[in-house]
Amino acid sequence: ALPIIIDCDPGIDDSIALLAAFVSPELDVVAITPVAGNQPIERTLRNALQICELGGRTDIPVHAGCHRPLLREPIYGQFHGETGLGNTDLPLPAKQAEAKGAVEFLIDRLGEAAQTGKRITLCCLGPMTNIAMALRISPGIASGIERIVMMGGAYREPGNRTMTSEFNMLVDPHAAHIVFSSGIPIVALSLDATHQVILTPDHVSAFAEISGRISRQLADLMAFWDRNQAERYGSRGGPLHDPLVIAWLLAPQLFETRRARIFIEHESELCMGQTIADWFGKSGLEPNADIATHVDAEGVIALFLERFSRYRAR
Ligand code: BDR
Ligand code: CA
Repeated sequence: ALPIIIDCDPGIDDSIALLAAFVSPELDVVAITPVAGNQPIERTLRNALQICELGGRTDIPVHAGCHRPLLREPIYGQFHGETGLGNTDLPLPAKQAEAKGAVEFLIDRLGEAAQTGKRITLCCLGPMTNIAMALRISPGIASGIERIVMMGGAYREPGNRTMTSEFNMLVDPHAAHIVFSSGIPIVALSLDATHQVILTPDHVSAFAEISGRISRQLADLMAFWDRNQAERYGSRGGPLHDPLVIAWLLAPQLFETRRARIFIEHESELCMGQTIADWFGKSGLEPNADIATHVDAEGVIALFLERFSRYRAR
């Protein structure tokens, strides 16, 4: 199985991504490293622990990450409800976070991977503060990373938090700048991709009908997401952002990508966090990412329905 670390800020869509990864034998979830993003770290950490319990994966170590972005004041998500998990009511977790923090863990574990050559894929579902910190302290860990598959940015689409910027990139543009300048191969799933995969009320019903406790919780999460986003954007439902990272790992054939150099605006207040792709090689710099331009949306939804049906008995 492919060893992955999931760096995230759960978050409704982060939670859906985690639950999908948990039942995918192709993936070996080595650890989860929550970060401040959709909610303060206390909440994203607690939500990650709760989702591990819900999914029956208390075996996966969870390391608490950074409390705030590198330089900017923290801002939090708008669509995830008061707890970050919509209206779902999960018991307080018995599972504890590991004593080692996320940045130390990333340095140690990726450092080891750099030594042994058994590289790890890093999934980034939130602001990139943890990995940027780790790279600044220990740049050698870059060679322990197979690739980064990240959700964030907006190229042809406008931003979802400001006119120009997607939430994860806006929260910590300096961290994103560090990561995109690191030379690590990146697969970028931006709003251009995630806005192609809209979860409609019909989809939510299909997930609810799988039956079982987990599918009901999942459908609750999705329904909250759906309503909230539909109210905000007047669209047919909520985009499936973070789960696309897992979908790409499981079924890259459902995606079309284009290679380009990505730059992160981290100086202009007006465009802070904007992602700029050098589609035509104007910068003279080598491409640093594969940007998903087209997604087979029905294929992705079918993939997730199949994955979540594995929870049926629970
Ligand atoms: C991203 O922002 C967060 O609210 C979601 O969890 C996702 O990672 C989408 O812009
Ligand atoms: Ca997220």
